[in-house]
Amino acid sequence: MAVAARRLDRLEALVSRLESEGHCALAHRTDVTELSDVEALVSATNKEFGRIDIFVNNAGTMPASPIIDRRISDWKRMVDVNVNGVLHGIGAVLPTMLGQGSGHIVMIGSIAGRRPFPGGTVYAATKFAVRALSWGLHLELGAAHGIRVTDIQPGQVATELYEGVPHGPYKDAWDKAWEGKRRLQPQDVADTVLFAVTSPEHMAVSELLVRPLDQPN
Ligand SMILES: NC(=O)c1ccc[n+]([C@@H]2O[C@H](COP(=O)([O-])OP(=O)(O)OC[C@H]3O[C@@H](n4cnc5c(N)ncnc54)[C@H](OP(=O)(O)O)[C@@H]3O)[C@@H](O)[C@H]2O)c1
Repeated sequence: MAVAARRLDRLEALVSRLESEGHCALAHRTDVTELSDVEALVSATNKEFGRIDIFVNNAGTMPASPIIDRRISDWKRMVDVNVNGVLHGIGAVLPTMLGQGSGHIVMIGSIAGRRPFPGGTVYAATKFAVRALSWGLHLELGAAHGIRVTDIQPGQVATELYEGVPHGPYKDAWDKAWEGKRRLQPQDVADTVLFAVTSPEHMAVSELLVRPLDQPN
């Protein structure tokens, strides 16, 4: 397994944990907004493991804010990471999977890819894009090339994603709305990914929406 992100110290800690559990793992510093980084990740993974069966397009960012605040650099950042980063992943891994005649691309979309929420308009647009890409990839890569594609669409998960929401009344209202409620845990999403990638080969688990029971929207 190869793990990739920008913070190498965290990746290396994860690799140590995986190795202590008996797994082979590789840490690769990668910024998904740089195509060359993602290509280097694919190349290092192929060198180490000889093939790539599953590619999880997970990196994302959500500096959500009311559209009238016009935080245009945040809008562009979301498009860059959540859309261009995902495109870089697809573009980089495709030659390997086409060569193998098999593979599974997992996208981490969002419930926001089905329905926008106030303050999350641009974020939702990026996740609508992820959903459209996933659907289109199935049409182009499924029957013709044996490549499966899954768009996992979580609701609220307790992660660092919310630290990217700018401080202010919008974030305060959000935090208040979730006080005392149970969010999903990262393990819940990981289990959903596992369900998709271990499904029988003739089966395309195309979309999975998972949200906390406590999520009212
Ligand atoms: N949390 C939720 O409620 C929720 C709900 C629906 C969907 N999602 C989606 O789930 C995915 C994972 O988010 P999360 O909730 O786990 O958020 P998170 O805790 O903020 O994690 C984001 C991950 O993406 C990596 N990342 C961010 N920018 C990157 C870049 N430019 N290049 C490479 N890696 C980058 C981060 O590592 P580095 O910072 O070290 O690069 C980190 O590992 C995202 O696509 C998000 O949109 C989350």
